[in-house]
Amino acid sequence: MSSNSRSTDFIVRRPDDWHLHLRDGAMLKAVLPHTSAHFGRAIIMPNLVPPVVKTADAEAYRARIMAALPEGHDFEPLMTLYLTEGTDPADVELGAKYGLIKALKLYPAGATTNSDSGVRSIEAVYPVLEKMSELDVPLLVHGEVTDADIDIFDREAVFIDRVLSPIRERFPSLRIVMEHVTTEDGVNFVKGAGDRTAATITTHHLIINRNTILVGGIKPHYFCLPVAKREKHRLALRAAATSGDARFFLGTDSAPHMKSAKECACGCAGVFNASNTVNCLAHVFEQDGALDKLEAFMSLNGPAFYGLAANEARIRLFKGDDPLSYETRVSVDGDEVVVFDPGFPLFWRYEAVNA
Ligand code: DOR
Ligand code: ZN
Repeated sequence: MSSNSRSTDFIVRRPDDWHLHLRDGAMLKAVLPHTSAHFGRAIIMPNLVPPVVKTADAEAYRARIMAALPEGHDFEPLMTLYLTEGTDPADVELGAKYGLIKALKLYPAGATTNSDSGVRSIEAVYPVLEKMSELDVPLLVHGEVTDADIDIFDREAVFIDRVLSPIRERFPSLRIVMEHVTTEDGVNFVKGAGDRTAATITTHHLIINRNTILVGGIKPHYFCLPVAKREKHRLALRAAATSGDARFFLGTDSAPHMKSAKECACGCAGVFNASNTVNCLAHVFEQDGALDKLEAFMSLNGPAFYGLAANEARIRLFKGDDPLSYETRVSVDGDEVVVFDPGFPLFWRYEAVNA
């Protein structure tokens, strides 16, 4: 690796995305190339309708992803199961031993898009968590409580107290990833919870705070869950991501919705950032004087936590003189998905390095 914090041209391992929504059908076909062009692997979220709950569902979904992959793209989808109160530990064992199932995702019921089948009582899934500890299959958590009396901006902190801490204590060897952490509380929890607890951080949560969504008119394309919090939390995420700490790594949470489903009276949660994430991250890490930590965040820490080797392929990042012009829309079935607008011009580009 030839990087340092002042460089404007350096080479890193090809990145991976440890939290991605690819959807299905026409949407899958439209968005997948935006990930597979740049990322070696991605953890594929299982919140389809109906959700991916059994190993057989994940196998079929994986086949649909592979069928949608453009010719010549080298990409490996890492499949997950949607944890429900009906999940059978024997099915998890089958999928894990077969090498297909890389993690299970815990959605508290009602927390976000397509989470109706989520878990209502965490005790009900303890036998599955026991089996996952034994098999060393990570638990990925959507860290928000959904009780009506909890303010939406406090959902993550309350989840840590009521759900995450008890799981952490009860299953000490279980690998846990706090997905899309959005608060200083989450960052501090992960830092204090040993080396079997990690967190993914999205591109957009490093860039926006809640003012971006609400000041000067409501901006539906910045609405996602967990919702972006106040500025001190964004700064805590930036510090964690750019620190090089092995417990923090990239999960874009790129979550496409049709423009018409975002720009309406009850808009969906989700930001589509798969196509410009690497450019945005280089900008963020440069701003924080941490370009030398970018490879750890997007290419090294994730595979290490999952017990996988880093990608062999490399990309070269370099800074242009002029702002990058890029597609701000992806067409899908007569509608379109709006690409994340970081609110600043992007100068960083990258290209594959031929071996
Ligand atoms: O903003 C979000 N969108 N957060 C999630 O947890 C789910 C995702 C989606 O599937 O649209
Ligand atoms: Zn997600």
